[in-house]
Amino acid sequence: MNSNTRRLGALIALGVSALLVGCERPPTATEQRGYRGTGMVDVQNPRTVAGLHEANKVPDPIPAAEPGGPSAGAQFKNVKVLNDLNVAEFTRVMVAITSWVAPKEGCAYCHKGADFADDSLYTKVVARQMLQMTRHINGKWKNHVGDTGVTCYTCHRGNPEPAFVWHNDPGARMAKGFAGGLGQQNRPGTQVGLTAMPQDPFGRFLVKDDPIRVIAHDPLPGAEPGKTIPQTEWTYSLMMHMSESLGVNCTYCHNSRSFADWGASSPPRATAWYGIRMVRDLNSAYLEPLASVFPDEDKGPLGDGPKLNCATCHQGVHKPLYGASMAKDYPELGGGHAAPEKKSDAGTGARAERQRTNVARQ
Ligand code: HEC
Ligand code: HEC
Ligand code: HEC
Ligand code: HEC
Repeated sequence: MNSNTRRLGALIALGVSALLVGCERPPTATEQRGYRGTGMVDVQNPRTVAGLHEANKVPDPIPAAEPGGPSAGAQFKNVKVLNDLNVAEFTRVMVAITSWVAPKEGCAYCHKGADFADDSLYTKVVARQMLQMTRHINGKWKNHVGDTGVTCYTCHRGNPEPAFVWHNDPGARMAKGFAGGLGQQNRPGTQVGLTAMPQDPFGRFLVKDDPIRVIAHDPLPGAEPGKTIPQTEWTYSLMMHMSESLGVNCTYCHNSRSFADWGASSPPRATAWYGIRMVRDLNSAYLEPLASVFPDEDKGPLGDGPKLNCATCHQGVHKPLYGASMAKDYPELGGGHAAPEKKSDAGTGARAERQRTNVARQ
């Protein structure tokens, strides 16, 4: 072998290994999820799944509270949400939220000094809204969370700030003039599965209710406003985010013969449809109104507060915590306690109703 052949051989070996570095190490396991031959296969790597099971173990519940006794509303000075609980239930909730949200910091994370009625820490103000939001999810969004429900732990997992939140993305800074804008694209984005799709589909789909559509039903350009190329790209960004957040392929929900066809889609797609409406509701009724309460370091580059998306609860798994229900052990946070509908919820409800009818008509 002369030196040139050897060099060429080394180069080829280098090229091949560079290619393989980007690949996932086998084995992979596949599960047929649709009718045979429809390609509705879910691909998982057992190694990754084992790690996820480890990360999704749920903490043991605190023993249930004794019934009876005075209500927290009567006993304490400044209780606005949990006033329907008795003192034992109330104290149980305080202990539980401390272990779920601020295990290191303890009660002092939300309470300043010995005056527990004091509201001067922003964390307490946020936590009060979070208590309301958790009850609202468990009470009003059963069509997404079912009887499994959520607790603070679903999102927080022992951290004061959940691992997955988002802010409005200003896009990359660009030279002015002929260079043109990037349109938030062509930078591999971690929120959209490292693809070069637009980075921030969230504002328009998970706060506002822009239509999530690609397929036009009329061949004439302009006949159906909104079915533009950017609309298509944003839709795909959101879909990448949904797949990544749930750790599934597109075919978990869709039949790739026709992504739009509800008849050919699998049942989780309907659950996802409600999930999108739920996230819109939570962001606009609970997180956005808190924007001014959060300190500057929690705000995004455009000054908006942190908001949630599918990853905030799901964290890479098709059902958060693999479907284990912590909420059933915490009736204090259950839907039975949900506050009456807020104005903004009523609006979302009517809008969701209209959209449901549109879907049914398709
Ligand atoms: C993550 C934030 C958070 C943590 C941690 C926390 N609390 Fe609270 N606490 C609150 C909120 C919010 C309220 C008000 C609830 C309401 O308005 O319904 C409250 C209210 C109280 C009150 C009622 C005070 C009054 O007179 O109005 C007591 C007592 C209390 N907490 C005790 C505790 C104890 C003890 C701990 C630690 C084991 C603790 N809390 C940890 C958020 C927290
Ligand atoms: C659906 C997801 C979700 C649930 C459920 C949830 N939270 Fe949160 N929480 C968030 C998000 C998102 C933030 C914003 C985090 C940030 O600042 O980056 C947040 C922030 C907070 C903060 C402020 C943290 C800080 O330092 O800025 C507190 C305190 C808090 N939550 C308490 C609670 C409590 C108590 C519960 C249960 C009653 C709860 N949360 C349930 C999503 C959730
Ligand atoms: C967890 C379920 C789920 C996954 C996974 C998912 N989708 Fe979707 N997809 C939906 C839902 C729900 C809608 C309808 C959204 C709406 O109308 O609010 C939708 C809509 C779409 C549309 C628009 C169809 C139309 O009517 O024009 C396309 C295209 C699409 N998805 C492609 C994809 C691709 C590509 C992937 C993988 C990267 C994917 N989806 C992953 C649930 C899912
Ligand atoms: C507040 C927490 C929370 C958020 C945010 C959330 N989900 Fe879920 N999701 C759940 C829970 C809890 C379940 C399990 C429900 C059950 O056990 O029936 C679930 C179940 C699902 C399922 C059914 C999975 C299956 O295997 O049947 C899909 C699909 C889904 N979510 C999609 C989404 C999408 C898409 C988003 C973002 C638009 C989203 N979810 C946001 C809490 C959440």
